Amino acid sequence: MTFRSGHPDIDRYLAEGYDRVRGMSSRFAATICGHVIRRQSELGIAGHVAEIGTFEGRFFIAMALGLAPGERALGIDLFDWPNSGVLDLLHGHCARNGLARERYEALKANSRALTPADILGRLGGPVRFFHIDGEHERESLTADLDLAQAVLHPQGIICLDDMLHPGYPLLLVAVHEWLERHPEMRVLCVIDREDIVAAAKFMICHAEAVALYEQDLMTSFQPQHFVLGAEFERYFCVVLTPHPRLAEVD
Ligand SMILES: C[S@@+](CC[C@H](N)C(=O)[O-])C[C@H]1O[C@@H](n2cnc3c(N)ncnc32)[C@H](O)[C@@H]1O
Repeated sequence: MTFRSGHPDIDRYLAEGYDRVRGMSSRFAATICGHVIRRQSELGIAGHVAEIGTFEGRFFIAMALGLAPGERALGIDLFDWPNSGVLDLLHGHCARNGLARERYEALKANSRALTPADILGRLGGPVRFFHIDGEHERESLTADLDLAQAVLHPQGIICLDDMLHPGYPLLLVAVHEWLERHPEMRVLCVIDREDIVAAAKFMICHAEAVALYEQDLMTSFQPQHFVLGAEFERYFCVVLTPHPRLAEVD
């Protein structure tokens, strides 16, 4: 089944370019996030996009192609894995997929060493969509969440990668503890995994911003909506999955 974000540049990239950029994010998740970025523009939510863990740019390019004129993308990475050639590969993929150099910056840095001012200064304003996919370790994820929240547009989204990934079960503990300390933030949506190398994402936003996105996601991706939702003790959030169904009892 083909999923669409509704943004022509993002959908063209997802159809023709995505698989040619090495990376780990799933096309299903990138489609839904592209849809959300398009919806933000339609709602007048202006701002930039940022990513920790840009690697060769697979997910970064999808986000950045959804930006409105004057908005910019910031990709943060150590850019040393598997070797220093990864930064040139990122620039090559961006150019080939229509993302001009003036629309983005690749920042070679350890996210743990960055302050909110570093990000706001580079972008010139708040971030409306922040993808966190850097160091998969509890303390780092907590620090990355603090950094993202500090630069987030009040109606913006933080998107977390590799939630519920069998290889990183304790990341969820960090997210749960962080949400307990930030009751003003909520998980808006769980975007289900496609494969062990393209695991689930969580989209998080301010509780007051949930209504801007929730019904729209359930309606726009109705065939992918798992109607039982995900239980977060005090609320349920939307779950989108490529093939919604219950396990068969045999
Ligand atoms: C799983 S890959 C990212 C995949 C990419 N987002 C995608 O969708 O294809 C993780 C990346 O995080 C980067 N990374 C790990 N620790 C980091 C840190 N402390 N600061 C910045 N980047 C980091 C790694 O260099 C690596 O490129």
